[in-house]
Amino acid sequence: MSVLRARDSTTAPLCFKIDSVPRGPFITFEGSEVCGKSTQTQRLAARLEELRIPFLVTREPGGTPIGETIRELLQFAPQNAGMTAETELLLFEASRSQLVRETIQPGLQRGLCVIADRFFDSTTVYQGVARKLDRQMVEQLNRFAVGELIPDITFVLDVDAKTARARMQGTIRKPDRMENEPPEFYEKIRAAYRQLAKREPNRVVLIDGSQPVDKIDNQIWEILTARFPGFPAKSKIGNRKSKM
Ligand code: TMP
Repeated sequence: MSVLRARDSTTAPLCFKIDSVPRGPFITFEGSEVCGKSTQTQRLAARLEELRIPFLVTREPGGTPIGETIRELLQFAPQNAGMTAETELLLFEASRSQLVRETIQPGLQRGLCVIADRFFDSTTVYQGVARKLDRQMVEQLNRFAVGELIPDITFVLDVDAKTARARMQGTIRKPDRMENEPPEFYEKIRAAYRQLAKREPNRVVLIDGSQPVDKIDNQIWEILTARFPGFPAKSKIGNRKSKM
């Protein structure tokens, strides 16, 4: 999978106006491991592609050459076994601050819709809650990394620990450092995301991630077309029903 997928046109139309600033919409996907957010990120990208709406997909950690190097260090590098929670936090923020300035901000300003597979909510939940780091410090560092940039809408794909464990057992790749955490770690993450959705109901939308992929995809599209007039509600790909 290519890390950044942009319809890279400098003449992309600014077809959205958010808070009276002409820029593209910024949509993020969040959730615990194997919740299905990467699948939904790709599904949304495919819709936009078919509708010829210019977009950009990013992932975290990663999304830039610097960020991808940090990702490797965080996830698979043999040196990461002794990594402290503080170091981990700073590395996630370093990757994000590069991604915001190198890719997300310029993309939004050019009118692209930016779809992010994880953003600062991941740090709030994983490092602030599950790792129990000082929450104010985490918030401050989040702000420092992203400046004024806040997602217009965030979809949290919510799956319970049992479903997640079953899905994880079905994958054949080597687990990364985080995936080796005990089940309680993931319970905390799930609870923290649910809490976030309660705290910020205008931005954070909780989606039942145990539903069939098509159903989630259609649900997300319905919410987006209601929220952003630039997305056509009726299109030839309106409701998906795949053979998967
Ligand atoms: P993913 O590519 O499967 O989403 O994996 C990224 C991992 O990194 C996942 O375990 C969540 C974790 N993570 C954090 O702990 N904090 C962060 O700020 C981000 C972006 C990810």
